Amino acid sequence: RGKCNLAGWWQNELGSEMLVFNANSKGNFSGEYYTAVSSAQKPIETSPLRGSQHLDEDGKCTFGFTVNWSKFSDSTTVFVGQRFEDHRGQEVLKTGWLLRHKVNSLHDDWQATTVGTNIFTRLNRKEE
Ligand code: BTN
Repeated sequence: RGKCNLAGWWQNELGSEMLVFNANSKGNFSGEYYTAVSSAQKPIETSPLRGSQHLDEDGKCTFGFTVNWSKFSDSTTVFVGQRFEDHRGQEVLKTGWLLRHKVNSLHDDWQATTVGTNIFTRLNRKEE
């Protein structure tokens, strides 16, 4: 496992979980996102993510990924982040996100994008 391998299970402070699959040699990766919260009407479903990461040797790589919620919502989220290790050596992903809601008209565009941060830590699960 390389220093910046994001593959595996992660959980954020909302209780959302994601499974990241191994990145290829160019740093492209995919995964599955299980959000704990939603503003959509339909019940939450597992959603695909697609991302791209740097492959830095020092382990402090930056990355970004997009989650397409189309199974239950017409919105889209992009995350950007960086991997760190805390003082105990625990891996942590510090991220920021933009969530684009679908609005019905140009007039409503101003309220379509929300912003936030999430902190992910590793879940130690077998099924990676
Ligand atoms: C929607 O509400 O339309 C789809 C689900 C959005 C979930 C958001 S994405 C940013 C934030 N972080 C999470 O883990 N879940 C919420």
